[in-house]
Amino acid sequence: MKDRALRCWAEVDGSALRHNLAVVRSRISEETKLVAVVKANAYGHGLIPVAKELVGGGADILGVSNVKEAAELRAAGVVATPILLLSACLPEEFTRAIECRALPTISTYEEAKRLDVAAQKAGVRAAAHFKIDTGMGRLGLWGAEAVKELKRAERLPAVEIEAVCTHFSSADEDPERTEEQWNELMRWRSHFADKKLHVANSAALWRKTVYACSFVRVGLALYGLPPMPFLRRLLRPVLSWKTRITLLRHLPAGRTVSYGAAYVLRKAQNLATLAVGYGDGYFRALSNRAQVLVRGSRCRVRGRVTMDQSIVDVSGVPGCKVGDEVVLLGSQGDQVIYAEELAKIAGTIGYEIVTAVGARVPRIYRNFHFLSQGEEAQRKRKAAEASRERAREARSASSEDSERSVKNRPIAARLTRQA
Ligand SMILES: Cc1ncc(COP(=O)(O)O)c(C=O)c1O
Repeated sequence: MKDRALRCWAEVDGSALRHNLAVVRSRISEETKLVAVVKANAYGHGLIPVAKELVGGGADILGVSNVKEAAELRAAGVVATPILLLSACLPEEFTRAIECRALPTISTYEEAKRLDVAAQKAGVRAAAHFKIDTGMGRLGLWGAEAVKELKRAERLPAVEIEAVCTHFSSADEDPERTEEQWNELMRWRSHFADKKLHVANSAALWRKTVYACSFVRVGLALYGLPPMPFLRRLLRPVLSWKTRITLLRHLPAGRTVSYGAAYVLRKAQNLATLAVGYGDGYFRALSNRAQVLVRGSRCRVRGRVTMDQSIVDVSGVPGCKVGDEVVLLGSQGDQVIYAEELAKIAGTIGYEIVTAVGARVPRIYRNFHFLSQGEEAQRKRKAAEASRERAREARSASSEDSERSVKNRPIAARLTRQA
């Protein structure tokens, strides 16, 4: 990292994001649409750059939590890609949802009615997705009651229920329960047989291919966080989190470190103070237990993590200096710290580790292709890439048939030029 003035920052790697997108794509058929979940600032990775990269890379729909996030995407030039709202809308939000052409997820006739009123006022028909609860217990009604509400909602003049969905509570840890939820949904399927269906998050996608249905809603895997441990080798972490040493001191045995004097030096140590604390999202629960990477070596956090600063033991790292880059999350030399490692120590999940990386931590975007491009440019680039790929495939398939190979070349060139 060249900018020596950066104290604490996150590097977001576009090539890892595209790699994970390709891994997800390889799990689903051409007919299944990919809802790339970018809610909560794209799980802390940065809403707009990540959304643009995913759309440019072939995501069909973006999934956000609420209309505020949808409006941010529209304002940033993501104008054509459909946006699905995954959380319930407040009554006042339906009008805004229509304005930014976002698809609400609704569970009841009452919500559908509100959407209908807003749509009629705006002089449009509004599409929505209808959620059925099968065991998540967060949105949706159960079985017969849900079907009854769905049927009423379908009769509203300005609302179109485009798809029916459910959400698994435990796809990462309980395949039997997940299958029970699926069976519960299938029990009612004949009542909405004409509707598209979506149920799968990242974990479900690797449980059973049948869960992919018409759409999959994937977040975690895109960011290179494995919902199940075996996926670690397939996915690449997208976010690295770094800070610097701001001060180095040699302290004798008996001294105490940080608030509460909770850490007492049993022997003399070289301690480095780092420019990161819980104000940046480095959880206090990591106090005394987490490790960071300094010059390729693992160094333990000593004493309590404070709001802006943390202290680590660098006694085993010769030659470290003020200003040295320290890795909190990511790799250095042959060492790597995954979000799963910090999550385990802090008693949480990888989602929370990356999503909590604070607003004051600048994100540096590397290897992003679509950062400053509008969707039209992205679409053309995608078309050009697809045609190049087709041409490459055609050339290799017909390496013995030079006539066919030649026939393919001008088409690829023409499409490339158009882009
Ligand atoms: C309704 C819904 N669908 C899909 C997802 C994406 O899940 P994951 O990040 O596990 O792929 C989420 C994320 O929390 C969600 O709330």
